[in-house]
Amino acid sequence: MSDQASKLRILVEERAEEEAQARQIGELYLDVPENVRVIAITSGKGGVGKTNLAVNLAVGLQLAGKKVMLIDADIGMANVNLLMGSVTNRSLIDLLEDDVELDDVVEEGAAGVKYISGAASIEAALNLNRFNQKKLHKKLSRCSDLADIIIIDTGAGLNRNVIEFVLAAQEVLLITTPEPTALADAYAVIKAYSTYTERRNIKLVANRIHDEEECYEVVEKLNQTTKKFLGLSVDYLGYIYEDRAVLEAVQKQEPFLIAKPDSPASRCILELVKSLLSGEKMGSVSNGWRSFLYRLFGY
Ligand SMILES: Nc1ncnc2c1ncn2[C@@H]1O[C@H](COP(=O)(O)OP(=O)(O)OP(=O)(O)O)[C@@H](O)[C@H]1O
Ligand SMILES: [Mg+2]
Repeated sequence: MSDQASKLRILVEERAEEEAQARQIGELYLDVPENVRVIAITSGKGGVGKTNLAVNLAVGLQLAGKKVMLIDADIGMANVNLLMGSVTNRSLIDLLEDDVELDDVVEEGAAGVKYISGAASIEAALNLNRFNQKKLHKKLSRCSDLADIIIIDTGAGLNRNVIEFVLAAQEVLLITTPEPTALADAYAVIKAYSTYTERRNIKLVANRIHDEEECYEVVEKLNQTTKKFLGLSVDYLGYIYEDRAVLEAVQKQEPFLIAKPDSPASRCILELVKSLLSGEKMGSVSNGWRSFLYRLFGY
């Protein structure tokens, strides 16, 4: 991860310069009030539950009365639409066609959650020339008319694609399981971001927890390490129980919150929804979605 960390440093430095320019150019635009929350979900190790958290949190927030949009930014496997139980014909990159508008790529899934599927298109989007980036940026801006909360399912680890989304997001949920390898990779993510950005907007979600004691141990272990080596503690949002209902729902291609609303994992999601809606917003970055797009496309 250290090689990835130095790539991250370069990226953050470039980004800081671009952001300074963005403020000059786009000050007026950025000052338009907008209250969309942008929450990126990431992890160090793969397969620890990002997509399940993203999908079920989106459904939970939607059921709590919010308008939620979910964007699949995991280029490895576009499995948000699998869990949403529907097939998407179009993805984000189709917005580059002149006759394709945002509504054409936004699908409606479980509980009315809106989502945009990603697949390889996200990486392509980040590598576009300025003209096409602007086009995409303009069309995507309208997402803030469709949602109060935008959740982004990123890939795992510290590759460029993930970093771009995590750095651009206002709030970040870092999910880990109690496994030592997952914890080590979660620590590497915290370390990388804490070294190169001042923002302290990461909150921890512990997944596949057997009892509260185990969750406490996960948070303690990570916190001891971050305090010792980085001089900071990680915020903690909540946990999700190890639960067969998760696997069963995945097999049925349904969010577990819909398939098994009374299951332990579903109750945990509802607690996470409560914490997210009642707690302080994690980040201090203003103008959620517009600010996110400016950061993402590096103006
Ligand atoms: N709380 C849980 N209880 C039981 N099984 C779980 C739980 N969370 C996740 N799983 C299992 O782990 C699998 C992987 O979950 P998920 O696809 O959400 O991970 P991911 O982090 O998005 O993976 P990737 O890095 O490949 O995108 C699920 O299909 C399920 O079988
Ligand atoms: Mg995933």
